[in-house]
Amino acid sequence: MEGKGQIALVTGASSGIGRETAARLAREGFEVIAAARRVDRLKELSNQVQGITPRQVDLSQPGDVEGFCKYLSDLGKPVSVLINNAGYSIRGALEDVSLETLRRMFEVNFFSLVRVTQACLPGMRSLRNGTIVNLSSIVGKFTFPMSGPYASTKYAVEAITDALRMELRPFGIRVIAIRPGPLATEFNEVANELTGDLMARTDPDYKPIYQASGAGVGKMFAGLTVPGPELISDLIVEAVLSDSPKAVYAAGPFTEDILAERIRLDDDAFDRFLTEKTGLAGLTL
Ligand SMILES: NC(=O)c1ccc[n+]([C@@H]2O[C@H](COP(=O)([O-])OP(=O)(O)OC[C@H]3O[C@@H](n4cnc5c(N)ncnc54)[C@H](OP(=O)(O)O)[C@@H]3O)[C@@H](O)[C@H]2O)c1
Repeated sequence: MEGKGQIALVTGASSGIGRETAARLAREGFEVIAAARRVDRLKELSNQVQGITPRQVDLSQPGDVEGFCKYLSDLGKPVSVLINNAGYSIRGALEDVSLETLRRMFEVNFFSLVRVTQACLPGMRSLRNGTIVNLSSIVGKFTFPMSGPYASTKYAVEAITDALRMELRPFGIRVIAIRPGPLATEFNEVANELTGDLMARTDPDYKPIYQASGAGVGKMFAGLTVPGPELISDLIVEAVLSDSPKAVYAAGPFTEDILAERIRLDDDAFDRFLTEKTGLAGLTL
């Protein structure tokens, strides 16, 4: 696919993967709409790279998402490349995550993705062409303990992506899932800030579980080189420009070992494998 004169929309373009992807697509000749809450960051990006239009939206607010969708419908030209990238994580055992917190995360990671996609589809259908790239994660296919709430948003993204791929193929619209492993972006910092001090607020029953899994996951990260967002933005741009993109791209730590094992092992064997790895095997309280 050629970029010249085509509109690409990147959500979550104020940092990390989205920022890199927006810049790369603009350099390929796309007219890029860069969306996020921090409009100062978006303006800074549009001053650095030609062809980027900043657009402020808070994807946790359904009313704001509707306004954004109206703006997209009124553009007068279809969005032909949609990168559904905005997202964040909070951690915690299910008992430590309020429904309100989970709902808000679903608004950003899932419902806004669905709504923005719905807004872009009439234009793509009229073109009989288009590319939708949805940011999943390695945890779109398995979950670490104390990470179920975030992983559930990405499982939902995977299901919608799979259905869309089949539904939209007859219109010539390509739908791609991206499964990054952990990357050095602002993602971890945001997760720490939004999660807060779990150990201070959890029930004492959970403390040994947090301690054991914290140590287990700590071991998995020891000595690991965590790549930057370019690893994934390169893959996204490769997929967008390709004449025959793959259905799924995975890259980064834990894709070769844990994600590959999830695909290779049956459910019970994978459960034993990950419980061992995360330090929870044999823990009885
Ligand atoms: N980094 C990782 O380890 C990793 C691994 C697997 C998957 N992923 C996925 O990759 C995607 C990008 O993450 P990243 O690593 O690039 O993280 P990041 O650097 O924290 O960027 C997240 C982006 O999402 C935007 N965003 C968050 N809440 C928003 C809201 N309410 N409304 C609008 N935009 C919002 C942020 O913009 P504002 O704050 O300005 O609104 C920011 O531009 C996410 O979907 C994430 O789940 C990341």
